[in-house]
Amino acid sequence: MKEAKSPNELSVLLEDATNNFEFPEKPELLYQPMQYILRLGGKRLRPLLALMSYNLFKDDPEAILMPSLSVELFHNFSLIHDDIMDKAPVRRGEPTVHIKWNDNVGILSGDGMLVMAYKLLEPVDQALFPGLFKDFNQTAIEVCEGQQLDMDFESRSLEENPVSEAEYLNMIRLKTSVLFGFSMKLGASLAGRIEDADMLYEAGVHMGLAFQLQDDLLDLYGGDKFGKIPGGDIINAKKTLLLVKTMELASTQDAKLLVEVLSDSTLSDSDKVKQVQELYDQYGIPDLVKNEIDSHLENFQKTLEKVGSERSATLVDFVMGLANRAV
Ligand code: IPE
Ligand code: IPE
Ligand code: MG
Ligand code: MG
Ligand code: MG
Repeated sequence: MKEAKSPNELSVLLEDATNNFEFPEKPELLYQPMQYILRLGGKRLRPLLALMSYNLFKDDPEAILMPSLSVELFHNFSLIHDDIMDKAPVRRGEPTVHIKWNDNVGILSGDGMLVMAYKLLEPVDQALFPGLFKDFNQTAIEVCEGQQLDMDFESRSLEENPVSEAEYLNMIRLKTSVLFGFSMKLGASLAGRIEDADMLYEAGVHMGLAFQLQDDLLDLYGGDKFGKIPGGDIINAKKTLLLVKTMELASTQDAKLLVEVLSDSTLSDSDKVKQVQELYDQYGIPDLVKNEIDSHLENFQKTLEKVGSERSATLVDFVMGLANRAV
């Protein structure tokens, strides 16, 4: 068996395919925002995982470039709407769609991008289509469920109705991980390996949990290169594991202080972020979250080993390397 293609080589293919992706010209306010967000870049992880999963079994991942982009278009649609919901002004280091244009433009161009994501699956093998369509639908509705839970949690009281770690993990499984699972399953299915597809889905879900935990960590500790406003999750009172764990571990006095700081409307955003971060650091929360990330990555590795492809090491190394990512 030939060696697996390197993630870099596959990323170059994806970069070309996304940058050359043609949107119709008119109406401009429907299609320009789609092109704008897609060309802002990003890591292209979901289609990359689809290509790498396909490449576990077959030599020509370039053959599935277009259907693999369906998960990237879906992801970009979810980002446009997520940025409206999270009131986020910056994405990938540039203004978000609703800031550059407005909310209505963000809503409709996001909707359109979701439909375009589905359209990319139209040409797949007719024998595979019904299964993929069903899985895509299940994934899409679960992402919506996760996004709604994320919003519901914003208004949950830290003291009277705290979000548990299990609830948090369920929320991120839905909003983020299932799309990673579907991306890997898509790759295996397009390679004709229906018998391995569910195991790859499971591996992708483990990876996605690690990925969202890391995103939550980078939201505060990622610095300038992360391409989003630092501490956005604190400003929005997001119930991340960082916050959930701090509330669990803090002394009564510190827990009270944390609640006060988070609800203090006289504090500037940057002071609020600074004070909350001090409490997270005091309780060693970043290391706790890193351990949790490692345990999900270990599950990813173990699940992938069960698939037993000679090429799985390339995929495992790539995903393990993401734990050190800065963006
Ligand atoms: C951001 O995803 C949204 C999350 C699920 C955390 P990515 O970090 O994959 O975003 P891009 O595509 O690389 O910008
Ligand atoms: C987003 O989670 C998940 C989806 C877009 C479905 P976040 O809200 O944490 O993502 P970022 O940090 O804005 O990229
Ligand atoms: Mg969000
Ligand atoms: Mg967000
Ligand atoms: Mg985030």
